[in-house]
Formats: sequence, C-alpha cells, structure tokens
Amino acid sequence: MHNVYPLGSEIYWIGVNDRRIDLFENHFPVPDGVSYNSYFIDDEETAVLDTADNSVLTQYFSNLEYVLKGRPLNYLIVQHMEPDHCAGLAHLAHKYPETKIVVNERTACFIKQFFPEGVDWDSRFLLVTNGQRLKVGKRELTFVFAPMVHWPEVMVTYDATHRVLFSADAFGSFGALSGNITNERADVRSRIAEYRRYYTNIVGKYGFQTSKLLGIAAGLDFKMICPLHGLVLCRDFDYLIGKYQKWATYQPEERAVMIAFASMYHHTENAAEVLARYLDAEGVEEIALYDVSRLSQSHLVAEAFRCSHIVLAAPTYMNELYPEMEHFLHALRSRGVAGRQLALIGNGSWAPQAVKVMSGLVASLPRTKLLGVVEFMSSLNEAKERELQGLAQRIAASLRED
Ligand SMILES: Cc1cc2nc3c(=O)[nH]c(=O)nc-3n(C[C@H](O)[C@H](O)[C@H](O)COP(=O)(O)O)c2cc1C
Ligand SMILES: [Fe+2]
Ligand SMILES: [Fe+2]
Repeated sequence: MHNVYPLGSEIYWIGVNDRRIDLFENHFPVPDGVSYNSYFIDDEETAVLDTADNSVLTQYFSNLEYVLKGRPLNYLIVQHMEPDHCAGLAHLAHKYPETKIVVNERTACFIKQFFPEGVDWDSRFLLVTNGQRLKVGKRELTFVFAPMVHWPEVMVTYDATHRVLFSADAFGSFGALSGNITNERADVRSRIAEYRRYYTNIVGKYGFQTSKLLGIAAGLDFKMICPLHGLVLCRDFDYLIGKYQKWATYQPEERAVMIAFASMYHHTENAAEVLARYLDAEGVEEIALYDVSRLSQSHLVAEAFRCSHIVLAAPTYMNELYPEMEHFLHALRSRGVAGRQLALIGNGSWAPQAVKVMSGLVASLPRTKLLGVVEFMSSLNEAKERELQGLAQRIAASLRED
C-alpha cells in the first residue's frame, strides 16, 4: 500500500521510514530508526528528487507508482549519491526508460562507479552546472552546489516559484517519521538532540562548507525546507538555522561541562565523580558526566559540540590510552572540534601514559585551551583530591569569565 504525504505546492513526500535499522552507516545507533525522504513534483511535468535505501525499495516504488498515476516520470534529480538515497537508481532507470537523470558532472561519475553495468547512463543524463535552472512544468528549479555537505557531489535544489528549498542532507535528523511528516504538528525543538547527533557526526567535519550553504540559504526566501532525513520544515526555521550556525562554526551551544571518563575498575570514574562534586560546590549547574565505554561515540561527539568545557579522564592501558577514550579523541579531531576549554585526568599503576597521549591528541584541536591536568597513580589520595578541587575551581572560574 502506498504511503505518500502531500506537502502543498504540488509536492509530495514519497519517502520511506526504516525502523529495522540498528546502525546508520553500520556505525551510528538509531534506536528510533531513520527516514529516507524523497520528493515528487507533480507539475505539468513530473520530477523526483532522490530515491531511497536498498532496504525499503519495495515501499518506495509503490509510493512512486501511486503518485505518477501512469504518467511518465520526466526528471529524476540526484542531489546526493550516498547509497541511502540512491540505491534505487538503476532500478528506476530501467523501470522508467524515458526519465532524464539530472546530475552534475561529479554525480554522473559516481553513478557510473556505483552502477557500472546495465544502463547506458550518458544517454540518460541531463548535466547541470552550479546555479543552472530547469523548468519543470510551470515551476523553475535552481541547482546550487553544496560540496561536502555531506559528499563532494552534493547539490541542493531551490524551487523559486513555490519558495521551497530541497536541502539534501542538511537540516536532517535521525529518527523515523511517525505520521507527522512536517513540523507543523511535530516539534524540532524537542528532537534537537537527534538533529545535533545527526549533524555533528555526519556533516560535522565540514563546518566551513556548511557555513557557505547557510550563507546561500540566508539569501533565499523559502516557506518550506525538504531535507533527505527527518521532518520537512515549514515553520520555526530560525531555531534550527541558529543551531546550524553554531555547529558549523564549532561554537559551543551551552556553557556546560562535559566530563567524559573511561574506567575499568572505577578508580578513574571515582576521580570524575569527585571533580563533578567539586564543580557543584563551585556553583556549576550544567554538568554532563559520561562513561565513554557506555555511551555511543556518536552521542559523545554531539555532546562535545554542545558543551563549552570538556574534561577527559582515562586510565593507561597497555602502555597506551584506554581504547574507547582514544577512539573518542580521534572522533573529535576528525570532526574538527575547536575552541573548547579542556582539562585532563590521567591514571596508571606503574607507568602512566594517559595524560601524555591525551595531551598529544588534544593538541591538534584548534583554539582549545588547557585549563589543567591531574595525574594520579591507581586511586585518589588526599593530595590528588585537592588538585581536583583546584581544577574544579579553575573550570568554574572559566565558566564565569567567558
Ligand atoms: C589490561 C590492563 C592494562 C594496563 N596497562 C597499564 C600500563 O601500561 N601502564 C600503567 O601505568 N597502568 C596500566 N594499567 C593499570 C591501570 O591504568 C590502573 O590500574 C588504573 O588505576 C585503572 O583505573 P580504573 O580503576 O579507572 O580502571 C593497566 C590495567 C589493565 C587492567
Ligand atoms: Fe549523506
Ligand atoms: Fe543521507
């Protein structure tokens, strides 16, 4: 049975929800699933923007057939070649042999890489350049290249006639849609943690390119944003755009302390908790304390984008840093996290290395300031507890300052 949603302006959501997926990109936990959004334009001519993941293609083609009502599909616009949106491409090309496939040069190249057999792609392509316009029936679409938001070939599409921005992966979120396809009766604000986790992990590395896209979007007049995942946005644009402006420039959203600890036998955990208690004594309200072995790396990365201050506490492990902490620091570096106030707590029983390795890794995070380091052997003693108290005082002072 088809499941499509009219969005107005002769645009239909023809996407599919996937609630069976555990790990997006086989990597990021998605307990609430994910939606693969695709859009159908029902003008005097017809067009589709992107397709869907392999796992949901039966439902996807049922949706597409329903909206076409036996008419030809004139255009398929491919905004992004990641397989969560283009797995259905070759099948669509076979099923609708008259469809022109609207792509830029880079996308054309990727299509041939992903689907080397069975379709004479060159005869199907309608190649577009940055800023090029295309009439689809009575409306005019403009293609705006947005390289690296999330892949190099990405382009977004602006329907100037109806003031709709098809934003590719930008402004997306994890989480399947539950009947409310738009944010008219569903709220982005209450889902912001999943928007943050999506952006920071998927696109977070490419803040500069995202800022450029935000600049372009600021110059457009739109009444609807149609992303490739999550809710279609038809109101409250400034809230999410404001968040994106912070994330894309690596500015913390909140003056808050994230304490990320690793621990096997609770001693480093104890140090993290003692620090947190001293922070409370200094009047700090926003303290988020996480075990890096327990919370997914994607949640940790998102929290690092949210918080202004980050304390990393870890034991030494086989002469190196405890592996989950090392993983987290690599994740921060690969996302380009910058401009944070940091503190380090290291532990070891015979030849502590944790502080040394962590210092080396955080040195590569731009514009970070190290507020202090506490290193202890096996478990806290009174002297080390005093050091933690001093560190808490410095963190609290810095929170008040900036
Ligand atoms: C498998 C394993 C490997 C370790 N390797 C080192 C090491 O190379 N150097 C060191 O000083 N301590 C090493 N330690 C000791 C821990 O870093 C130390 O006992 C620390 O107090 C553990 O903190 P925790 O209670 O928070 O897990 C190792 C411990 C374990 C269990
Ligand atoms: Fe993507
Ligand atoms: Fe995507």
